[in-house]
Amino acid sequence: MVNLEIDRVSVRFALGGATVEAVNDVSLRIRPGECVALVGESGCGKTVLASALLGFLPGNAETTGSARLGELDLLAATDQELARTVRGRQIGLVPQSPASHLTPVRTARSQLEEAARVLGGDAESAARRAGLLPEHLDRYPHELSGGMAQRVANALALVGDPWLLIADEPTTGLDRDLVDGLLDEFRRLADDGHAVLLITHDLAAAHRIADRIAVMYAGRIVEVGPAHEVLDAARHPYARGLANALPERDFLPIPGQPPLLTDLPDGCAFAPRCAQATALCEERPVLTDDPHAVACHVPC
Ligand SMILES: Nc1ncnc2c1ncn2[C@@H]1O[C@H](COP(=O)(O)OP(=O)(O)O)[C@@H](O)[C@H]1O
Ligand code: SF4
Ligand SMILES: [Mg+2]
Repeated sequence: MVNLEIDRVSVRFALGGATVEAVNDVSLRIRPGECVALVGESGCGKTVLASALLGFLPGNAETTGSARLGELDLLAATDQELARTVRGRQIGLVPQSPASHLTPVRTARSQLEEAARVLGGDAESAARRAGLLPEHLDRYPHELSGGMAQRVANALALVGDPWLLIADEPTTGLDRDLVDGLLDEFRRLADDGHAVLLITHDLAAAHRIADRIAVMYAGRIVEVGPAHEVLDAARHPYARGLANALPERDFLPIPGQPPLLTDLPDGCAFAPRCAQATALCEERPVLTDDPHAVACHVPC
């Protein structure tokens, strides 16, 4: 069975005279049948990581590490290899802001049928799985509500029957009802033997469907483990702060701002916001190697 094995991936951007350390030493394994949520505040590197996996990074990016999909290292593969064997076929991407990725002058049906032709899939069944009705398919992108555009994007990502679906902030801007329906669709996909990487800053969404949650801060995974453990017994102070800020828990959000990715401290990047920081934290904590892993010198 194929897994995705992300191993020590870092992504840097050259920006003017500065270097943006957007993704730092990230390792994560995703297996068929599971839904993994990658959560963290805006700007922590989630989209950059997804873009790296699919070869969508701009020219000013430098990537290290590996991301193995069977025999293929996605980070070393050529654009042609990714287009021929990975994008849409093994990994489907639901991009952030899907409406802006649809072609404005063509109906949803024509875009879906073309994708089905290229990828060898079935447009109707992908539309059905994404919760679209035939009448939705005859609309142009500007005639689709945010929820419907999201479903068209999901159908496009599913049409080639990829084993892994990466959904980047799929719930942004949707009503709670639509959010729950969409998340349940993702859960069903995982239960059918696909894998889902749900990228979100919405911990409630992760709570609803994820088997495992990886918490990212300033480009690093600071905690990863079974979803219920990360939510109910977070060990990293940042992850605990996120979990406490869930609507039903009603604690205050974590005060302060994340650091600039052009100027990361040598030690723990969370230290300026951390009530538990000690002198130890001037040294960078390393993610432990266990099923509920944490990168913190003084875990909760
Ligand atoms: N092409 C780029 N050049 C320079 N910096 C970039 C580029 N793309 C993204 N970044 C920076 O990388 C960081 C992570 O961005 P992103 O992955 O989009 O965050 P998010 O977790 O919100 O998805 C941000 O600081 C962003 O400004
Ligand atoms: S390593 Fe130190 S500063 Fe960082 S989260 Fe843990 S206790 Fe806080
Ligand atoms: Mg993003």
